[in-house]
Amino acid sequence: MKYAEIEWRDGQPYSPGYDDIYFSAAGGREESEYVFLGYNNLATRWHELVAGEHFVIAETGFGTGLNFVLTLQAWQEHKAAGHIPADARLHYIAIEKHPVSPEDIQRVATSWPDLADCFDELLSVYPLPVEGDHCRSLLGGAVYLHLKFMDIIDALEQSHLLADAWYLDGFGPDRNADIWNERVFELVEKNSRQGATLATYTAAGFVRRGLQLAGFTVSKVKGHGKKREMITAVLSNKKPVQNRAPWYELEKTDCHNRQAVILGAGLAGLTTAWSLVQRGWQVTVIDRHKDVAEETSGNPAGLLMPRLSIDNKADAQFYSSALLYAAHCLDQLQKSEEERFWFHEGVYSIFKTGKTEKIIESNGYPEQFMQLLTGSDIPDVINAANASVSLLKEAGWASPKRICEQLVKVCGEALTLIEKNVNDIQKIEQGWQLLDEQGRSIILTDVLVLANGVAINQFEQLAWLPVLSVRGQVTEIPATEKSTMLNRAVSFDAYVTPAHNGKHIAGASYHVGDNNTALTQAEQDENMQRLEQCLPGLFTPPGKLNGRVGFRAVSEDRVPIIGAVPNKQQFQQDYIELHHGRPNAQYPGASYLSGLYVNVAHGSRGICSSFLSAEILASMIVNEPLPVNKVIIDQLSPARFLVRKLRRGESL
Ligand SMILES: Cc1cc2nc3c(=O)[nH]c(=O)nc-3n(C[C@H](O)[C@H](O)[C@H](O)COP(=O)(O)OP(=O)(O)OC[C@H]3O[C@@H](n4cnc5c(N)ncnc54)[C@H](O)[C@@H]3O)c2cc1C
Ligand SMILES: C[S@@+](CC[C@H](N)C(=O)[O-])C[C@H]1O[C@@H](n2cnc3c(N)ncnc32)[C@H](O)[C@@H]1O
Repeated sequence: MKYAEIEWRDGQPYSPGYDDIYFSAAGGREESEYVFLGYNNLATRWHELVAGEHFVIAETGFGTGLNFVLTLQAWQEHKAAGHIPADARLHYIAIEKHPVSPEDIQRVATSWPDLADCFDELLSVYPLPVEGDHCRSLLGGAVYLHLKFMDIIDALEQSHLLADAWYLDGFGPDRNADIWNERVFELVEKNSRQGATLATYTAAGFVRRGLQLAGFTVSKVKGHGKKREMITAVLSNKKPVQNRAPWYELEKTDCHNRQAVILGAGLAGLTTAWSLVQRGWQVTVIDRHKDVAEETSGNPAGLLMPRLSIDNKADAQFYSSALLYAAHCLDQLQKSEEERFWFHEGVYSIFKTGKTEKIIESNGYPEQFMQLLTGSDIPDVINAANASVSLLKEAGWASPKRICEQLVKVCGEALTLIEKNVNDIQKIEQGWQLLDEQGRSIILTDVLVLANGVAINQFEQLAWLPVLSVRGQVTEIPATEKSTMLNRAVSFDAYVTPAHNGKHIAGASYHVGDNNTALTQAEQDENMQRLEQCLPGLFTPPGKLNGRVGFRAVSEDRVPIIGAVPNKQQFQQDYIELHHGRPNAQYPGASYLSGLYVNVAHGSRGICSSFLSAEILASMIVNEPLPVNKVIIDQLSPARFLVRKLRRGESL
């Protein structure tokens, strides 16, 4: 993706590609307020929200963010005046195929000094132009901005937004046919709640007829300023819609007491805790160790790096969104801390010749995200023979243990840590009960999240989940004058951090099914040999065994497992015919073990995948718009393994 090309005409942004203006030169702000905020009747509807509720606005064409900023300002004003409950949340979902650059947004902002704070809020979270979903919380979780950087059809076909209000705001209908057409109107209806409203500045006949055809009751009203007419509409008779395959239908949760128990105080458990706490929840985190991050998340350092793929779009989008989101979260977590645990300084990535180019091309990554290095830009210390080297600028390295400690700190009193080994979990009438080795109840909860890494199969309810334990060893290497020449972390078929506090961390061996917890010389040698090939002569091997052993939880398809736990027996009954390929509508919706969720199998990339996975899970639990598209949600779903077996005609 590239930033939108913008020309400035008389101080106003103009798109030469579409030959149109972004907003009206005469009173753009007033027109936005009149059309979008006014005719969606936002003030009155916001005042009707009750504690804990949320309101969803969807916008076609985010552009310069002016509509968002005006909405953010209005939301803040109404909240400050006490007209909106303190814990109500606004979700603003905007679709944009050609993101406007932060510099151009900044220039727009100069027109309205009183909006400067809101534009600054936007710019502080504004993502790079990488295709995919980018969700950011603002004002401590009071507002969520979901930027869908993609074409409108892809965005709406892969979403289930349940919008309360729409801002239809493409360029003029005569010059932007791909945003104003019947398919889009149909998808707008599919992504709306019953009673949703819509407003647009245009009064074009085909827009009015298209919206009517899609099911909206449309009215023509007086337009802003000199404009004679505009359109507003309401969805009074929403058509029933099957938005996803029945076996991937989401659990309908009931979370009135806003309390959850999370098993596991590693990256997965504590990021989930933070996401729920930001939504006003109280969480209890249980771990068998007194301190957090004592198992896999206890490494002294690791890389924040995405998995990069050429031909798996959903995987590539998940990991690139996850990287940008994790880097944003880590910046926030680091901000208030003097001691550094997160180094947002980019990572050199090395693949065999040609692969980097293919990754960049197939995903359309901009240079700001992944830059192919050539000639003298490649550091001398890297052996670039038969290799292509790139710089992933938003990647970096961090101490997972310190991240976990910081997460506990930011959750504050909303998080309680309990040191207990959980031997069993049982569903009883009052909820999920966690039991110790003596069968005594530790705690009872409506919502239980299992984030217990490689131990996930220990419970009978999850014994079927195909998760392997993969041993790995990192090696601590003393820094030398020579090794300090390495200025950034490097990722190849292994990785190494730059020197910090007199040492480098290199990883990591990968041995499936090996349960040995002791450091071994063989794996230390393995790590050193890999380093030697990529960074020849840079490191002096440690004189003794020096490092740490951990066990990655890796799923059968190497994708994390995030979501509600399916009821296996019911799946067997309901979908036994799945391999016959009957129409989806003939099957009932998915059954779950109500209130039970998993967040596991982060493999070798938990620093990258945990933050976004936690947001996905928290949004599911709280019943809010999901931060990624349906394809990714289904790909992460625990039910996918059952569905695949049933499709093959195998018994569960
Ligand atoms: C050698 C090695 C190198 C790695 N390098 C990187 C890297 O560079 N970058 C990267 O992103 N990732 C890396 N990873 C992967 C990363 O460490 C993991 O993805 C991540 O730590 C997983 O976090 P988790 O919370 O799922 O699991 P864990 O950190 O293992 O947390 C699970 C927690 O559950 C608790 N628990 C389990 N069962 C019970 C029970 N019954 N009762 C009570 N408590 C229980 C455990 O005590 C544990 O604290 C590496 C992994 C290894 C092994
Ligand atoms: C008039 S501008 C939007 C102005 C914007 N709401 C604001 O507040 O600045 C229209 C936007 O729609 C985007 N757009 C056009 N066609 C699109 C498509 N097919 N999918 C997604 N976005 C599209 C354009 O890139 C442009 O940013």
